[in-house]
Amino acid sequence: MSETVLYVSKIKNGTVIDHITGGHALDVVKILGITGREKKVVTIAINVPSKRFKIKDIVKVEGRELNPQEVYKIALLAPHATINIIRDFRVVEKQRVKIPNVIEDMIKCANPACISNSNEPVQAKFYVESEDPLLLKCHYCGYIMEKKDVLQQF
Ligand code: CTP
Ligand code: ZN
Repeated sequence: MSETVLYVSKIKNGTVIDHITGGHALDVVKILGITGREKKVVTIAINVPSKRFKIKDIVKVEGRELNPQEVYKIALLAPHATINIIRDFRVVEKQRVKIPNVIEDMIKCANPACISNSNEPVQAKFYVESEDPLLLKCHYCGYIMEKKDVLQQF
């Protein structure tokens, strides 16, 4: 625990997504499909001080773990996030999120004229030009997707 203040209580079982890029906690909540009506404890901290990145967000979800697709999506918005699996109050696994070099299936090209948006059976495909700031290049039309283009789809 590097911070001097505990902003949100520890959880017993579940997942803590830590070191989320400041301001993106609510996007993470959306990626996880959390509505708040699941009868599970969810705690969210936004723009709290962080030693490593000045400010960060944290999302703690009781009683669930994340699937790889969810972790990839979080990585696009918060490339420095860490996923901590908590069991019986202890961190039993800590994983840095990772953006794959090639992104397929997860997002659509923002260029409406792109062949991947036509009726052709062509799956969207992007190359990661930069992780932070996020820049993804479409394999088909060369369009450069930024974080805001990706956010619109989540
Ligand atoms: N945490 C929690 N509930 C627990 C255990 C840990 O909510 N029962 C949270 C901590 O508050 C922290 C994150 O999970 O936000 C990771 O915990 P820990 O590894 O103990 O903290 P640090 O050493 O600060 O993590 P890092 O090295 O990743 O910064
Ligand atoms: Zn394209």
